[in-house]
Amino acid sequence: MSLVIREMTLDEVDLVIDYFHGSTPEHLETLGVDPTRLPTPTDWRAWYVAEYGKPARERSTLLVIWELDGGAVGFSTADKIVYGKQAHMHLHIVDPQRRRSGIGSTCVRETAELYFNALALRLLFCEPNAFNVAPNRTLQSVGFRYVKTYKTVPGPLNYHQSVTRWVLEDRRSRD
Ligand SMILES: CC(C)(COP(=O)(O)OP(=O)(O)OC[C@H]1O[C@@H](n2cnc3c(N)ncnc32)[C@H](O)[C@@H]1OP(=O)(O)O)[C@@H](O)C(=O)NCCC(=O)NCCS
Repeated sequence: MSLVIREMTLDEVDLVIDYFHGSTPEHLETLGVDPTRLPTPTDWRAWYVAEYGKPARERSTLLVIWELDGGAVGFSTADKIVYGKQAHMHLHIVDPQRRRSGIGSTCVRETAELYFNALALRLLFCEPNAFNVAPNRTLQSVGFRYVKTYKTVPGPLNYHQSVTRWVLEDRRSRD
C-alpha cells in the first residue's frame, strides 16, 4: 500500500467539487454542509483558478490530495489561513468504502506536517461537526488536543451547528 500526500494541482480540483456535489443529503448533513450554499461547479472552479493564480502567501486556501496506489482517495483543504500563525483544516476520504481502514489517520498526520511547513504555522485547527464521530476520533488519534465544543457557523458552506474544536501545535511545541 503506497500513500502519497501532496499539494493538489489546479487540474485536480474537480475532486473537491464533484465530492460535495455528488454527496447525498445525508452525508452533507453529517458534514454540517448546507447544500443550498454550495457554489455551482462553474463558479467554484473559477474561484480556484483565481486562487491558484495568487502568490502562495496571499491565497486563502491550500488543497492537498491523498493518493493510494496511484489513485485519488481523498483530500484536505486548509482555510482561515494566517500565514506564519494558524489555519483550519478539513479532511475527506471520497469513497465511503475506503473509510475506517486506517488511511485517514495516516493522511491527516502527513497533511498536518505539510500545512505546518507550507504555511509556517504555529497552530492548526480542525472543527468537525460535534456529532460526526469519524473526524473527531481521527483527530484525537493523531494527536490533536480537544479545545471546546460550541455552536457556530464554521464556514461559508455550513449552517449553524455544534462543532468540536481540536488543535495541533507545531512540532517544536510538541517535542
Ligand atoms: C474523517 C475521515 C477522513 C477519517 O478517515 P478514516 O480512514 O475513516 O479514519 P481511520 O480509519 O484512520 O480511523 C481513525 C480513528 O477514527 C475511528 N473511526 C473512524 N471512523 C469512525 C466511525 N465512523 N465511527 C467510530 N470511529 C471511527 C477509528 O476507529 C480510529 O480510531 P482509533 O485510532 O482509536 O482506532 C473519514 O472517515 C471520512 O472521510 N469521513 C467522511 C468525511 C468527513 O466526515 N469529514 C470530516 C469533515 S471535518
